[in-house]
Amino acid sequence: MIKSCVIGLSKIGQIHCNNLKKIKNTSLNFVYDKNLTLRNKTAKKFKCQTSKNFEEILKNKEIKLFIIASPTTTHEYYLNKLIQYKKMIYCEKPISLNASKINSLVKRIKSNRIKICIGLNRRFSDAYIRMKKLIKNKKVKIIQIISRSSNANVQQSVRNGGLFMDKGFHFFDLACWFANSLPNKIITIANPLSTREFLKNNDYSDAVINMKLKNKVIVEYIFSRSSRLGHEERIRLFGNSFKIDSDRFFKKSIIYKNFDIKHKESYFKCLKKFTSLNKNLLFNEGIQTQKICDEVLRSARIN
Ligand SMILES: NC(=O)c1ccc[n+]([C@@H]2O[C@H](COP(=O)([O-])OP(=O)(O)OC[C@H]3O[C@@H](n4cnc5c(N)ncnc54)[C@H](O)[C@@H]3O)[C@@H](O)[C@H]2O)c1
Repeated sequence: MIKSCVIGLSKIGQIHCNNLKKIKNTSLNFVYDKNLTLRNKTAKKFKCQTSKNFEEILKNKEIKLFIIASPTTTHEYYLNKLIQYKKMIYCEKPISLNASKINSLVKRIKSNRIKICIGLNRRFSDAYIRMKKLIKNKKVKIIQIISRSSNANVQQSVRNGGLFMDKGFHFFDLACWFANSLPNKIITIANPLSTREFLKNNDYSDAVINMKLKNKVIVEYIFSRSSRLGHEERIRLFGNSFKIDSDRFFKKSIIYKNFDIKHKESYFKCLKKFTSLNKNLLFNEGIQTQKICDEVLRSARIN
Protein backbone atom coordinates (compact mmCIF):
# COMPACT_ATOMS: atom_id res chain seq x y z
CA MET A 1 0.00 0.00 0.00
CA ILE A 2 1.39 3.42 -0.98
CA LYS A 3 0.57 5.85 1.83
CA SER A 4 -0.08 9.34 0.48
CA CYS A 5 -0.63 13.03 1.14
CA VAL A 6 -2.31 15.66 -1.08
CA ILE A 7 -1.03 19.26 -0.91
CA GLY A 8 -3.52 21.96 -2.03
CA LEU A 9 -7.17 21.08 -1.54
CA SER A 10 -9.25 23.08 -3.99
CA LYS A 11 -11.03 21.42 -6.91
CA ILE A 12 -7.98 19.67 -8.37
CA GLY A 13 -6.70 18.49 -4.97
CA GLN A 14 -10.12 17.05 -4.09
CA ILE A 15 -10.11 15.05 -7.36
CA HIS A 16 -6.78 13.49 -6.34
CA CYS A 17 -8.03 12.74 -2.80
CA ASN A 18 -11.00 10.86 -4.25
CA ASN A 19 -8.79 8.93 -6.66
CA LEU A 20 -6.23 7.93 -4.01
CA LYS A 21 -9.13 6.38 -2.10
CA LYS A 22 -10.30 4.48 -5.17
CA ILE A 23 -6.95 3.10 -6.40
CA LYS A 24 -6.32 -0.33 -4.87
CA ASN A 25 -2.64 0.09 -3.99
CA THR A 26 -2.87 3.63 -2.54
CA SER A 27 -4.31 5.11 0.64
CA LEU A 28 -4.96 8.76 1.51
CA ASN A 29 -3.36 9.30 4.91
CA PHE A 30 -2.78 13.07 5.07
CA VAL A 31 -4.08 16.23 3.43
CA TYR A 32 -2.44 19.63 3.65
CA ASP A 33 -3.54 23.15 2.68
CA LYS A 34 -2.42 26.51 4.02
CA ASN A 35 -6.11 27.23 4.66
CA LEU A 36 -6.90 25.81 8.12
CA THR A 37 -10.68 25.50 7.63
CA LEU A 38 -10.28 23.76 4.28
CA ARG A 39 -7.67 21.26 5.50
CA ASN A 40 -9.73 20.32 8.58
CA LYS A 41 -12.92 20.00 6.54
CA THR A 42 -11.15 17.87 3.91
CA ALA A 43 -9.49 15.61 6.51
CA LYS A 44 -12.92 14.99 8.01
CA LYS A 45 -14.50 14.37 4.59
CA PHE A 46 -11.87 11.78 3.59
CA LYS A 47 -11.37 10.34 7.08
CA CYS A 48 -7.63 11.04 7.10
CA GLN A 49 -5.17 13.13 9.09
CA THR A 50 -3.91 16.67 8.66
CA SER A 51 -1.38 18.87 10.42
CA LYS A 52 -0.69 22.57 10.72
CA ASN A 53 2.97 21.75 10.30
CA PHE A 54 3.87 20.44 6.83
CA GLU A 55 7.36 19.38 8.01
CA GLU A 56 5.72 16.94 10.41
CA ILE A 57 4.02 15.13 7.51
CA LEU A 58 7.22 15.26 5.52
CA LYS A 59 9.21 13.63 8.33
CA ASN A 60 6.73 10.75 8.57
CA LYS A 61 8.65 7.96 6.83
CA GLU A 62 5.48 5.99 6.15
CA ILE A 63 4.09 8.66 3.81
CA LYS A 64 5.68 7.85 0.48
CA LEU A 65 3.64 9.66 -2.20
CA PHE A 66 2.87 13.40 -2.25
CA ILE A 67 0.59 15.04 -4.80
CA ILE A 68 1.31 18.73 -5.40
CA ALA A 69 -2.01 20.38 -6.27
CA SER A 70 -1.32 23.80 -4.77
CA PRO A 71 -0.89 26.89 -7.01
CA THR A 72 2.03 26.76 -9.43
CA THR A 73 3.76 29.59 -7.49
CA THR A 74 4.31 27.01 -4.70
CA HIS A 75 5.54 24.04 -6.80
CA GLU A 76 9.23 24.85 -6.62
CA TYR A 77 9.09 25.11 -2.80
CA TYR A 78 7.31 21.77 -2.41
CA LEU A 79 9.43 20.03 -5.05
CA ASN A 80 12.61 21.03 -3.23
CA LYS A 81 11.24 19.78 0.12
CA LEU A 82 10.04 16.48 -1.36
CA ILE A 83 13.34 15.88 -3.16
CA GLN A 84 15.20 16.49 0.12
CA TYR A 85 13.08 13.80 1.82
CA LYS A 86 13.24 11.50 -1.24
CA LYS A 87 9.48 11.21 -1.61
CA MET A 88 7.58 9.93 -4.64
CA ILE A 89 5.97 12.93 -6.39
CA TYR A 90 2.92 13.52 -8.58
CA CYS A 91 3.22 17.19 -9.57
CA GLU A 92 0.33 19.00 -11.20
CA LYS A 93 1.30 20.77 -14.38
CA PRO A 94 3.27 22.97 -14.87
CA ILE A 95 6.43 21.95 -13.01
CA SER A 96 7.47 25.43 -12.00
CA LEU A 97 6.93 29.09 -12.91
CA ASN A 98 10.57 29.84 -13.13
CA ALA A 99 12.06 28.70 -16.43
CA SER A 100 15.61 29.46 -15.27
CA LYS A 101 15.23 27.05 -12.31
CA ILE A 102 13.90 24.10 -14.33
CA ASN A 103 17.31 22.69 -15.26
CA SER A 104 18.61 22.64 -11.70
CA LEU A 105 15.35 21.14 -10.40
CA VAL A 106 15.49 18.42 -13.06
CA LYS A 107 19.12 17.72 -12.17
CA ARG A 108 18.22 17.28 -8.47
CA ILE A 109 15.25 15.04 -9.31
CA LYS A 110 17.49 12.83 -11.45
CA SER A 111 20.49 12.72 -9.13
CA ASN A 112 18.27 11.84 -6.13
CA ARG A 113 16.48 9.15 -8.20
CA ILE A 114 13.08 10.61 -7.37
CA LYS A 115 10.11 8.82 -8.90
CA ILE A 116 7.97 11.55 -10.43
CA CYS A 117 4.93 12.10 -12.64
CA ILE A 118 3.88 15.39 -14.21
CA GLY A 119 0.08 15.64 -14.39
CA LEU A 120 -0.37 15.61 -18.16
CA ASN A 121 -3.58 13.68 -17.57
CA ARG A 122 -5.33 14.77 -20.79
CA ARG A 123 -3.33 12.02 -22.55
CA PHE A 124 -5.49 9.58 -20.56
CA SER A 125 -8.81 11.11 -21.64
CA ASP A 126 -10.96 8.43 -23.36
CA ALA A 127 -11.83 10.81 -26.22
CA TYR A 128 -8.21 11.70 -26.97
CA ILE A 129 -7.08 8.07 -26.74
CA ARG A 130 -9.73 7.14 -29.32
CA MET A 131 -8.55 9.96 -31.61
CA LYS A 132 -4.95 8.86 -31.24
CA LYS A 133 -5.93 5.30 -32.25
CA LEU A 134 -7.83 6.58 -35.30
CA ILE A 135 -4.73 8.32 -36.68
CA LYS A 136 -2.41 5.36 -36.11
CA ASN A 137 -1.71 4.74 -39.81
CA LYS A 138 -2.69 8.17 -41.11
CA LYS A 139 -0.72 11.31 -41.82
CA VAL A 140 -2.09 14.28 -39.85
CA LYS A 141 -1.32 17.57 -41.60
CA ILE A 142 -3.12 20.20 -39.52
CA ILE A 143 -4.18 20.22 -35.87
CA GLN A 144 -6.62 22.86 -34.62
CA ILE A 145 -7.09 23.37 -30.89
CA ILE A 146 -9.65 25.71 -29.34
CA SER A 147 -9.78 26.27 -25.60
CA ARG A 148 -12.08 28.99 -24.22
CA SER A 149 -13.10 29.11 -20.60
CA SER A 150 -15.93 30.91 -18.87
CA ASN A 151 -15.76 32.68 -15.49
CA ALA A 152 -11.96 32.90 -15.63
CA ASN A 153 -10.25 34.50 -12.67
CA VAL A 154 -7.22 36.66 -13.44
CA GLN A 155 -5.52 36.04 -10.06
CA GLN A 156 -5.91 32.28 -10.43
CA SER A 157 -4.45 32.46 -13.95
CA VAL A 158 -1.46 34.45 -12.68
CA ARG A 159 -0.93 32.09 -9.70
CA ASN A 160 -0.85 29.16 -12.10
CA GLY A 161 1.60 30.68 -14.56
CA GLY A 162 -0.59 32.74 -16.91
CA LEU A 163 -2.44 31.84 -20.09
CA PHE A 164 0.26 29.67 -21.69
CA MET A 165 1.40 27.65 -18.68
CA ASP A 166 -2.00 27.34 -17.06
CA LYS A 167 -4.24 26.82 -20.08
CA GLY A 168 -1.72 26.04 -22.80
CA PHE A 169 0.29 23.30 -21.07
CA HIS A 170 -2.06 20.38 -21.81
CA PHE A 171 -2.68 21.52 -25.38
CA PHE A 172 0.96 22.03 -26.34
CA ASP A 173 1.61 18.52 -25.03
CA LEU A 174 -1.42 17.02 -26.79
CA ALA A 175 -0.43 18.51 -30.16
CA CYS A 176 3.07 17.01 -29.88
CA TRP A 177 1.55 13.67 -28.82
CA PHE A 178 -0.95 13.55 -31.69
CA ALA A 179 1.69 14.56 -34.23
CA ASN A 180 4.61 12.60 -32.73
CA SER A 181 6.82 15.63 -33.13
CA LEU A 182 8.05 18.84 -31.51
CA PRO A 183 7.81 22.48 -32.63
CA ASN A 184 10.54 24.21 -34.57
CA LYS A 185 8.69 27.47 -35.28
CA ILE A 186 6.23 29.34 -33.04
CA ILE A 187 4.32 32.56 -33.70
CA THR A 188 2.05 34.00 -30.98
CA ILE A 189 -0.29 36.98 -31.17
CA ALA A 190 -1.65 37.81 -27.73
CA ASN A 191 -1.27 41.44 -26.74
CA PRO A 192 -3.71 43.04 -29.23
CA LEU A 193 -6.35 40.39 -28.46
CA SER A 194 -6.23 40.55 -24.67
CA THR A 195 -8.28 42.54 -22.18
CA ARG A 196 -6.78 45.30 -20.01
CA GLU A 197 -7.60 43.41 -16.82
CA PHE A 198 -5.21 40.58 -17.80
CA LEU A 199 -2.61 42.84 -19.41
CA LYS A 200 -2.39 44.95 -16.23
CA ASN A 201 -1.49 41.74 -14.38
CA ASN A 202 1.23 40.88 -16.87
CA ASP A 203 -0.91 38.06 -18.32
CA TYR A 204 -2.99 37.56 -21.47
CA SER A 205 -6.69 36.71 -21.76
CA ASP A 206 -6.62 35.70 -25.44
CA ALA A 207 -4.12 34.40 -27.94
CA VAL A 208 -3.72 32.88 -31.36
CA ILE A 209 -0.67 30.64 -31.75
CA ASN A 210 0.70 28.98 -34.86
CA MET A 211 3.30 26.25 -34.68
CA LYS A 212 5.19 24.37 -37.32
CA LEU A 213 6.42 21.03 -36.03
CA LYS A 214 9.65 19.34 -37.08
CA ASN A 215 7.67 16.81 -39.16
CA LYS A 216 5.89 19.72 -40.96
CA VAL A 217 2.55 19.32 -39.14
CA ILE A 218 0.91 22.74 -38.62
CA VAL A 219 -0.83 23.43 -35.30
CA GLU A 220 -3.25 26.33 -34.79
CA TYR A 221 -4.42 27.26 -31.29
CA ILE A 222 -7.11 29.69 -30.16
CA PHE A 223 -7.11 30.39 -26.42
CA SER A 224 -9.52 32.62 -24.56
CA ARG A 225 -10.42 33.37 -20.97
CA SER A 226 -14.00 34.08 -21.96
CA SER A 227 -16.71 32.03 -23.59
CA ARG A 228 -20.45 32.55 -23.80
CA LEU A 229 -21.20 28.87 -24.32
CA GLY A 230 -19.44 27.51 -21.21
CA HIS A 231 -16.03 25.82 -21.32
CA GLU A 232 -15.09 25.02 -24.86
CA GLU A 233 -12.33 22.52 -25.60
CA ARG A 234 -12.19 21.20 -29.12
CA ILE A 235 -9.43 19.45 -31.04
CA ARG A 236 -9.64 18.77 -34.78
CA LEU A 237 -7.17 16.66 -36.73
CA PHE A 238 -7.00 17.08 -40.51
CA GLY A 239 -5.31 14.92 -43.15
CA ASN A 240 -5.70 14.45 -46.90
CA SER A 241 -8.97 12.59 -46.78
CA PHE A 242 -10.10 12.80 -43.18
CA LYS A 243 -11.17 15.15 -40.41
CA ILE A 244 -11.50 13.97 -36.81
CA ASP A 245 -13.37 16.25 -34.42
CA SER A 246 -13.14 15.72 -30.64
CA ASP A 247 -16.75 16.90 -30.19
CA ARG A 248 -17.82 13.58 -31.72
CA PHE A 249 -16.39 11.70 -28.75
CA PHE A 250 -18.20 13.51 -25.94
CA LYS A 251 -21.86 13.27 -24.94
CA LYS A 252 -23.71 16.43 -26.06
CA SER A 253 -24.66 17.16 -22.45
CA ILE A 254 -21.01 17.58 -21.36
CA ILE A 255 -19.46 19.30 -24.41
CA TYR A 256 -19.39 22.70 -22.68
CA LYS A 257 -18.72 21.41 -19.16
CA ASN A 258 -15.51 22.07 -17.25
CA PHE A 259 -12.37 19.88 -17.51
CA ASP A 260 -13.11 17.97 -14.29
CA ILE A 261 -16.33 16.63 -15.81
CA LYS A 262 -15.24 16.27 -19.43
CA HIS A 263 -12.00 14.46 -18.61
CA LYS A 264 -12.97 13.01 -15.20
CA GLU A 265 -11.56 9.54 -15.86
CA SER A 266 -8.20 10.89 -17.05
CA TYR A 267 -7.04 11.99 -13.57
CA PHE A 268 -7.77 8.55 -12.16
CA LYS A 269 -6.09 6.69 -15.01
CA CYS A 270 -2.96 8.85 -14.98
CA LEU A 271 -2.46 8.49 -11.21
CA LYS A 272 -3.27 4.76 -11.29
CA LYS A 273 -0.72 4.16 -14.03
CA PHE A 274 1.95 6.13 -12.15
CA THR A 275 1.41 4.26 -8.89
CA SER A 276 1.64 0.91 -10.67
CA LEU A 277 4.89 1.77 -12.49
CA ASN A 278 8.42 1.40 -11.30
CA LYS A 279 9.59 4.49 -13.17
CA ASN A 280 8.75 8.11 -13.98
CA LEU A 281 5.68 9.02 -15.98
CA LEU A 282 5.48 11.97 -18.40
CA PHE A 283 8.49 13.64 -16.79
CA ASN A 284 10.46 14.34 -19.99
CA GLU A 285 7.22 15.38 -21.71
CA GLY A 286 6.56 17.83 -18.85
CA ILE A 287 10.03 19.35 -19.19
CA GLN A 288 9.61 19.60 -22.96
CA THR A 289 6.20 21.26 -22.62
CA GLN A 290 7.58 23.74 -20.11
CA LYS A 291 10.15 24.78 -22.73
CA ILE A 292 7.39 25.16 -25.35
CA CYS A 293 5.44 27.43 -22.94
CA ASP A 294 8.51 29.63 -22.56
CA GLU A 295 8.93 29.92 -26.35
CA VAL A 296 5.22 30.75 -26.82
CA LEU A 297 5.50 33.46 -24.16
CA ARG A 298 8.68 34.85 -25.71
CA SER A 299 6.95 35.03 -29.07
CA ALA A 300 3.89 36.76 -27.51
CA ARG A 301 6.17 39.41 -26.01
CA ILE A 302 8.00 40.22 -29.24
CA ASN A 303 4.95 40.20 -31.53
N1 LIG B 1 -4.39 18.73 -14.60
C1 LIG B 1 -5.33 19.65 -14.81
O1 LIG B 1 -6.15 19.51 -15.70
C2 LIG B 1 -5.36 20.86 -13.94
C3 LIG B 1 -6.54 21.61 -13.85
C4 LIG B 1 -6.54 22.73 -13.01
C5 LIG B 1 -5.41 23.08 -12.29
N2 LIG B 1 -4.28 22.35 -12.41
C6 LIG B 1 -3.07 22.71 -11.67
O2 LIG B 1 -3.30 22.38 -10.29
C7 LIG B 1 -2.63 23.32 -9.44
C8 LIG B 1 -3.67 23.95 -8.51
O3 LIG B 1 -4.55 24.73 -9.29
P1 LIG B 1 -5.87 25.39 -8.66
O4 LIG B 1 -6.50 26.17 -9.74
O5 LIG B 1 -6.64 24.35 -7.93
O6 LIG B 1 -5.17 26.41 -7.60
P2 LIG B 1 -5.82 27.39 -6.55
O7 LIG B 1 -5.20 28.69 -6.73
O8 LIG B 1 -7.30 27.28 -6.60
O9 LIG B 1 -5.28 26.80 -5.13
C9 LIG B 1 -5.30 25.46 -4.76
C10 LIG B 1 -5.29 25.29 -3.23
O10 LIG B 1 -3.96 25.44 -2.75
C11 LIG B 1 -3.99 26.11 -1.49
N3 LIG B 1 -2.70 26.76 -1.27
C12 LIG B 1 -2.28 27.99 -1.66
N4 LIG B 1 -1.01 28.20 -1.28
C13 LIG B 1 -0.63 27.06 -0.62
C14 LIG B 1 0.57 26.66 0.01
N5 LIG B 1 1.65 27.46 0.04
N6 LIG B 1 0.61 25.44 0.59
C15 LIG B 1 -0.46 24.61 0.56
N7 LIG B 1 -1.62 24.93 -0.02
C16 LIG B 1 -1.71 26.14 -0.61
C17 LIG B 1 -5.16 27.08 -1.60
O11 LIG B 1 -5.66 27.41 -0.29
C18 LIG B 1 -6.15 26.26 -2.43
O12 LIG B 1 -7.02 25.52 -1.60
C19 LIG B 1 -1.94 24.33 -10.38
O13 LIG B 1 -0.61 23.97 -10.55
C20 LIG B 1 -2.72 24.19 -11.69
O14 LIG B 1 -1.96 24.54 -12.82
C21 LIG B 1 -4.24 21.24 -13.20
